[in-house]
Amino acid sequence: MLEKLISAEACDRLSRRAAELIAQKKDEFDKAVFSTRDQEKTSNDWFLESGDKIRLFMEEEKNPNTTRHRVNKIGHAMHDLDPEFAAFSRQAPLADIAHDIGLQDPVLMQSMYIFKQPFIGGEVRVHQDSTFLFTEPLSCVGFWIAIQDATVENGCLFALPGGQKEPLRERFQRDEKGGTALVKLEASPLPETGYVPLEAPRGTLVLLHGNLPHFSEANRSGVPREAYAVHVVERSADYPASNWLQRGNELALRGFA
Ligand code: FE2
Repeated sequence: MLEKLISAEACDRLSRRAAELIAQKKDEFDKAVFSTRDQEKTSNDWFLESGDKIRLFMEEEKNPNTTRHRVNKIGHAMHDLDPEFAAFSRQAPLADIAHDIGLQDPVLMQSMYIFKQPFIGGEVRVHQDSTFLFTEPLSCVGFWIAIQDATVENGCLFALPGGQKEPLRERFQRDEKGGTALVKLEASPLPETGYVPLEAPRGTLVLLHGNLPHFSEANRSGVPREAYAVHVVERSADYPASNWLQRGNELALRGFA
């Protein structure tokens, strides 16, 4: 965890850009997801096709007051499709840190702008990020940046000290019958206790090893908790076609350069 690595100005710019994207995409989302009868298939497709797009994903709980406060996250390719997100994702400190932690030729696979909206921001259950970005050999690393102060009250991350040594328990992949499936790799569940809060002032970078178990609780406070996460994998690692997140050939994977 590197406190205040990113400037407050850069965090504010990204937050404003996220708000602009939501304003632009409001109609598109309502049309694509809420007004169809085949809700499950539509929301599955919405998710599965998002690896090379910029899409909104909504909270399960609804806040009737504003549109913005219904958004759970934006994903999953802003880092390649939106100039402001692209530049933020490739700031010098991030590239330097990727090199320092021994990544050889990382590619930016996925980006998420995560809202923990006041009062309704949902929990994220304990998981390992390599479950969602599986490679052989395992190579996923998350660059999680607090865009606003993350505290125990507004749903900061909790992680298991030393947990990067835990074997990967599950793989989240495309199901042959459509939709997605969680496939068990290990019978034993992830530890349930021993997690510590990672309170992170705005601009703090939290590096997440792909095997590190972590979670975040719901935000029941009135204070928003926005964060931005970019996940990288090694270009040389095998990235299975069964992974949930795929991108078309027309959008090439790029590293930090
Ligand atoms: Fe995660």
